[in-house]
Amino acid sequence: MFLKKLKLINFRNYDSCEIDFTGNKIILLGKNAQGKTNLLESIYYLATLSSFRANNDSEVIKKGCNSAFLSAELIKNDTDIEISIAINPPKQKLIKVNGLKKSSYSQYLGHLAVVNFGVSDLLLLRGAPSDRRRWLDDAISQIYPAYKDRLNKYNKIRTQRNNLLKEFKGNFHLNKVQKDTLSVFDEQISISGSNIIHLRQKYLKEVQIIANLKHKKISLEEEDLVLEYNSTITGNFNARESEIINPEKILESYQEAFKEKINEEIARIQTVIGPHRDDVSFYINNIEAKSFASQGQQRTIVLALKLSELDFIENIIGESPVLLLDDVLAELDKTRQNYLLNSIKKDTQTIITTTDISGFNEKFLEDVTVYNIESGKII
Ligand SMILES: Nc1ncnc2c1ncn2[C@@H]1O[C@H](COP(=O)(O)OP(=O)(O)OP(=O)(O)O)[C@@H](O)[C@H]1O
Ligand SMILES: [Mg+2]
Repeated sequence: MFLKKLKLINFRNYDSCEIDFTGNKIILLGKNAQGKTNLLESIYYLATLSSFRANNDSEVIKKGCNSAFLSAELIKNDTDIEISIAINPPKQKLIKVNGLKKSSYSQYLGHLAVVNFGVSDLLLLRGAPSDRRRWLDDAISQIYPAYKDRLNKYNKIRTQRNNLLKEFKGNFHLNKVQKDTLSVFDEQISISGSNIIHLRQKYLKEVQIIANLKHKKISLEEEDLVLEYNSTITGNFNARESEIINPEKILESYQEAFKEKINEEIARIQTVIGPHRDDVSFYINNIEAKSFASQGQQRTIVLALKLSELDFIENIIGESPVLLLDDVLAELDKTRQNYLLNSIKKDTQTIITTTDISGFNEKFLEDVTVYNIESGKII
């Protein structure tokens, strides 16, 4: 996959910007706060329809403007594709592929694939559970485009269910109408949620194999990495040893779990179980890494995960996704830096941001095109 051209209008600190990429290895060079991460964010947004750092769409629109526009020309399977997004809240985003409007995310996603690896990812283990869910959801959305539609649907039903819980006003004794209405929502949310949990388990099971191999290599065969999905519905799923649970079986666990939690849900006026509350844990040599692993060991895990994501997406779509590396090299020691740079295949288009080019070795710089970024402009 090759990203040829990127156009931005009123995105973050860019007024209007066009950039042609000619090579596979690209460095975006600039001082702090010039727009390097913003540019990677725009590519990520084009690929995933969401930002890796904004909580809502308004944040990515240039201050003082009402809307933003992004488009990309890319080559995938030797075919030219143009994708574009107009962001104009509170209206729905206008998404197009080759000039044709798409009405669902799944029709849009799957054209541009990216793996983003930034400094904040290095905190994945110590971060909030929502960071780890976002990591998982973004990766799965790129492989199964329908996943993002499912997540949206799940979240919509969850909001409706929470509104219903609010109507109960803390009263645990529900009348028949209330019970019936709740059971309709329970059924809908559990069908949606079971699918999400199933796909997350499936993804982790596959990534476990690749990530473990990579982790072993970086840690000089000393460390054994195991991923675990911690579900509020189905309990802990060891990605190496547990069998993937099919959605029908997950539905059964849902029923049990709802029965057990109903009073807590009425008291707290929220849906307290489901994939929106699940988490992922990481074990090194059977010890939970979040609290025990050193910073370097945690970085090794994230590096192994990101490189696995790259391999995994490539295995599925048959082409390497675009790799976005945001300031991350400077945060890795020489061993991990070299492992990362040596792992990047020649045909993987890689866009790296940096404030200082002197840290790169000369051999790597030979095939690199450098773009200077200054106050939202490419120089
Ligand atoms: N919606 C927005 N409208 C206008 N400017 C914005 C918007 N969002 C962010 N900015 C500005 O964009 C600038 C560049 O941000 P960016 O994160 O891309 O910098 P960077 O070049 O990656 O810097 P660093 O090297 O520090 O990571 C910041 O000064 C920020 O205030
Ligand atoms: Mg930055």
